[in-house]
Amino acid sequence: ENKYRPFPPIDLADRRWPSRTINEAPVWLTTDLRDGNQALFEPMNATRKLRLFEELVHLGFKEIEVGFPAASQTDFDVVRCLIDERRVPRDVTPMVMTQLREDLIEKTVRSVAGAQRVIIHLYNAIAPLWRRVVFGLSVAEVEQLVAHHVRFLREQVAQYPQTEWLLQYSPETFCMAELEVSLRICNTAIRCWDAGPSRPIIINLPTTVEVATPNVFADQVEWMNDRLERREHVVLSVHPHNDRGTGVACAEQALLAGAQRVEGCLFGNGERSGNLDLVTLALNLYTQGVHPRLDFSDIAAVARVVEQSTALPIHPRHPYVGDLVFTAFSGSHQDAIAKGFAAQAADALWAVPYLPIDPRDLGRTYDSIVRVNGQSGKGGIAFLLHRDHGVTMPRRMQIEFSAIVQQLADASEAELTSEEVGELFESTYLAP
Ligand code: KIV
Ligand code: ZN
Repeated sequence: ENKYRPFPPIDLADRRWPSRTINEAPVWLTTDLRDGNQALFEPMNATRKLRLFEELVHLGFKEIEVGFPAASQTDFDVVRCLIDERRVPRDVTPMVMTQLREDLIEKTVRSVAGAQRVIIHLYNAIAPLWRRVVFGLSVAEVEQLVAHHVRFLREQVAQYPQTEWLLQYSPETFCMAELEVSLRICNTAIRCWDAGPSRPIIINLPTTVEVATPNVFADQVEWMNDRLERREHVVLSVHPHNDRGTGVACAEQALLAGAQRVEGCLFGNGERSGNLDLVTLALNLYTQGVHPRLDFSDIAAVARVVEQSTALPIHPRHPYVGDLVFTAFSGSHQDAIAKGFAAQAADALWAVPYLPIDPRDLGRTYDSIVRVNGQSGKGGIAFLLHRDHGVTMPRRMQIEFSAIVQQLADASEAELTSEEVGELFESTYLAP
């Protein structure tokens, strides 16, 4: 249950607009421990990884990419520790990534042996630039590489029948590849895995480097969605990066185009300008009336754990979590917010001007909403005096007193605290 409805309100009788809406949360995969981790100055050690894993479970993630165990001893040890010490809840599926090489696949499968359910993530770059410059391979050779290693993986996992194995195949650089080539290679992976009712496959389409507007990516996703073989046994996933600053928009457009699953990192950590920000996407859904099935009710605690894990600060204007996103400096905003709070009934849909979400839903308070500086107007000052000092001023007094507050704030070139405003009120009107 949440108290939001789509904004702007949609006339359901008018089916022309908007043509599509997102009506349910996607399957989430967090790659904080893999893509996020590989982009840190100092990759997380085992203790930090295990701590962040716990937090991700606590937030409600059911699919968690835990690392690249064939490439990193820390990752191998972390994965073994998670499995041997039974730290993975039954409803959570870890994912491990590997490149297309027999020795790496063999080691990756060993790293997760004994797990209840695992996703093995195979990837290789397929776009023309990579085929030509990086690998010197033809399309047929790339396809052959995928076919061979998917079959090899099938043989490997068959040795551990007590584990439920899923395959995720990512055509890395998908957004820069020819669609016919992407389709041919993904369908090869689907066939070689022999996807079926008891053998689903995740096809994960990345914007490895975001190079086009979100609608272009959405068209690419839609095109694949319409043509993939054995579609009912395929979970269609996307993995946006944020090079153009539109990772969240890409994910939203991709969901409208048929994607069912989304990969990203908390607060948009990740290579270059980051992976898709899972928190922003989840809370965008929440404000549209779609519960994300993730728990951000104490967002400051999440931010603390992530900042400790990544050693990267979160920007003060970061959507939903930044220190400044529930503050209003301008008088007209403060006035509107004050009126909104006064009119907001406890059980009604959220409707406070300038605040797209109730800060309390994120464990935040209103304390910082009204801050008083030289630009503050009478409404905000009156709201603050009423809330913190129990003073209700008549309108003429509000006008007079706000001019006094502004003068003091301008003279001191600083923000005034609520206490200072209270003291100023006392010394102006109540002092003998
Ligand atoms: O960005 C990317 O393409 C990746 C793949 C490995 C999915 O991280
Ligand atoms: Zn990535």
